[in-house]
Amino acid sequence: MKKQILVVGGAGYVGSHTVIKLLEKGYEPIILDNLSTGHKESITGGLFYECDLANIAHVRDIFKKHNIEAVMHFGANCYVGESVVNPHKYFKNNVSNTINLLEVMLEAGIKKFVFSSSAATYGNPVKIPIDEAHPQVPCNPYGLSKLFIEQIVSTYERAYGIKHIYLRYFNAAGADPEGRIGEDHYPETHIIPLLILTALGIKKQFTVFGNDYETSDGTCIRDYVHVMDIADAHVKALEFMDTEKRSEEFNLGSSMGYSVNEIISKVEQVSGKKIPVEYTERREGDPAILIAGCKKAREILGWRPHYSIEKTIMTAWEWHKKYPKGFKDVK
Ligand SMILES: NC(=O)c1ccc[n+]([C@@H]2O[C@H](COP(=O)([O-])OP(=O)(O)OC[C@H]3O[C@@H](n4cnc5c(N)ncnc54)[C@H](O)[C@@H]3O)[C@@H](O)[C@H]2O)c1
Repeated sequence: MKKQILVVGGAGYVGSHTVIKLLEKGYEPIILDNLSTGHKESITGGLFYECDLANIAHVRDIFKKHNIEAVMHFGANCYVGESVVNPHKYFKNNVSNTINLLEVMLEAGIKKFVFSSSAATYGNPVKIPIDEAHPQVPCNPYGLSKLFIEQIVSTYERAYGIKHIYLRYFNAAGADPEGRIGEDHYPETHIIPLLILTALGIKKQFTVFGNDYETSDGTCIRDYVHVMDIADAHVKALEFMDTEKRSEEFNLGSSMGYSVNEIISKVEQVSGKKIPVEYTERREGDPAILIAGCKKAREILGWRPHYSIEKTIMTAWEWHKKYPKGFKDVK
């Protein structure tokens, strides 16, 4: 009998790529998604339920129908800027709805939880690379919502024994190397898809927020990690909870930093197109450099990223070239 894994937010970008990995590894994904930002077309297998975590009765019903072994939780709103102007949406969906999920897990006696946390829980870095012991002082409501969930789940571990793995991703990027699915957010705010959409002529120009940072070329430096490498870490997290029977938290990044200008020229190389760029003021709250320290994931989880930045951009380029309007183009 295949192990059934509940994948909340499994129709979203990272969740749908993790579903591919779960299927490859012989698990049966049970996907729960309200399709608020996800896409039905991104589901490549497993069982799908269109369900909102806010509807606890429906969530309970899904748990009753299946023999769920562990829960992976990708479901969230993820726009930093929106979270600043509308924090209530973030606390309600990311925090309150996660409490619904935990409630049903407790009722069903399910004690394994893999959570999509974020580098945003660290806030402004006090040292680079950022390791898991770095202080967690989020500087926006999105990051705060992720930290609240970590703290709630850790409290539930002490009270109810829920084991958890927090995976704190840096910048997820790239697409399924076989071209079945890719990244399609609306509005898109991530640099690599935005650059590709500009290279394809769908967007007129790419805006760089600030070129007066204290970095080699003045633009911000970030750490990009391929979405299939993140997916792989999720499966390793499941195996880890089975064998080690304890909770942990891990950063997921490449441990390499690339400036915005470097990413622009790499997308130009891969696409063979010149990208029109405008430079404007810095955005509030953007740290100059964010690079992950991933020694812990390497040593304890046995995880390391396999995709270079060039390969990451290449997989994204292939998908967007095939589906310039994203999943709307997928028949
Ligand atoms: N993409 C990144 O670079 C990145 C970085 C750090 C952390 N994360 C975290 O990883 C997770 C996945 O990110 P993503 O980029 O795939 O986002 P996404 O928006 O593509 O996926 C989120 C999914 O959750 C679903 N969802 C949201 N609220 C729900 C609810 N109440 N009930 C049911 N389903 C709901 C959405 O429909 C969507 O399919 C998020 O939790 C995000 O905070 C992402």
